[in-house]
Amino acid sequence: MCAGLKRCGTDDGGRPAPSTAPPATSTQAASPTAPSTAAATPTGEAAAPSTGEAATPSPQPPAPSPTPPAHSLTDPTSQWVVVNKRRPLAPRAFAPELAQPDVPLAISGEGALLNPTTAHAAEALFAAAATAGVGMTLASGYRSYATQQATYASEVAAQGQALADVASARPGYSEHQTGWAFDLGAAGGTCSFQPCFADTPAAKWAAAHAHEFGFIVRYPWMLHGITGYFYEPWHLRFIGVEAATEMRQKGIGTLEEYFGLPAAPTY
Ligand code: DAL
Ligand code: ZN
Repeated sequence: MCAGLKRCGTDDGGRPAPSTAPPATSTQAASPTAPSTAAATPTGEAAAPSTGEAATPSPQPPAPSPTPPAHSLTDPTSQWVVVNKRRPLAPRAFAPELAQPDVPLAISGEGALLNPTTAHAAEALFAAAATAGVGMTLASGYRSYATQQATYASEVAAQGQALADVASARPGYSEHQTGWAFDLGAAGGTCSFQPCFADTPAAKWAAAHAHEFGFIVRYPWMLHGITGYFYEPWHLRFIGVEAATEMRQKGIGTLEEYFGLPAAPTY
């Protein structure tokens, strides 16, 4: 059993940690840091917590070697990639390896696909929910750059750019393009993509148990000032069981706070 995320060689994605320890910068991997113990610098790097003591001129012991990061925050094939309005995908037109999960589908075509790790975790989540008597569907999974372009354009046409921007990511800025995220539906399609979805058994079960399968609700209630998006109780993002469970145990609602990254309310 791994004693802590910083020391984990692998997480649920099965990706080995780098054999050498690169510096933790905003463009490379970092260890997660709770917001109460570290401040984000303008570059997005996690700063060491202050001790509050005055500096002394006495010789300091050598700094400890940096702990190897577990997963990249920028590589879109990493389960910890953070994509938001300030962190577009690189490359913008990234396309992941894709697989179709064996779960009830409310969508066909590319939207029924996820990356293989997420597909596997989604199958476990759906199976456990079914065992608990909770019906769920996969309502929207992978979206290519071109599909996100069309999705965003249709939102802008329907409600104007300001409202579209708090509901739909611009192309190159969506977690759906990574294959690490999907939108959950309730059996029968009740309240799909509407605020009332939060009251469905599917949403309630996911809110209580998603972390057990490595998922978080990526856009929580009232945290749009950090995430850039209004509450989406249907949007689940895979980050691995240990990280998702740690976020829940520490009451951390967003990936931005978990990794000590700047808030991303706007582009
Ligand atoms: N609805 C989410 C923010 C997306 O479009 O990726
Ligand atoms: Zn979504």
